[in-house]
Amino acid sequence: RYEKIWLAGALLLIVGFIATVSYGAVGAGIAMVDDEGGQVDPASLDDHPRFGEPGTYQSGENEYDVYVVARQFLFEPGTSEPIRVPAHSTVTFHVTSPDVIHGFEIVGTNANTMAIPGQVATITVEFGEPTEYGLLCNEYCGSAHHAMEGKIEVV
Ligand code: CUA
Repeated sequence: RYEKIWLAGALLLIVGFIATVSYGAVGAGIAMVDDEGGQVDPASLDDHPRFGEPGTYQSGENEYDVYVVARQFLFEPGTSEPIRVPAHSTVTFHVTSPDVIHGFEIVGTNANTMAIPGQVATITVEFGEPTEYGLLCNEYCGSAHHAMEGKIEVV
């Protein structure tokens, strides 16, 4: 009997976790699809085939991968040049950091992840009409944290 109650409780917890993880975001024409992670050597990002040359890569019809390095105190790309993605596309962002933990938040949406050294955070976002989004670091990362921001252009 007790085992059954425990099992039911455990199942409820699992369902709760899944619901939390897949809690997707709907903002102005933006929807977050999934969230999964990987590993990368933070000391040799320059040698990585994608993070060594971060930016937008086409992966299919209307599908793109965007590699972003978040570092003190900028997004690369994003800060000195905007991230550009086509309108009406599905874009998976791959975000990591070579130094400390940063945040990667697409302002005005629920698309939001942490950039952790050694890990690759991925979030998939569906973009609609051409527009612009702000990018923010929302994890305290040092003296210029407040100035760490960028831009996404949906063109
Ligand atoms: Cu980067 Cu705060």
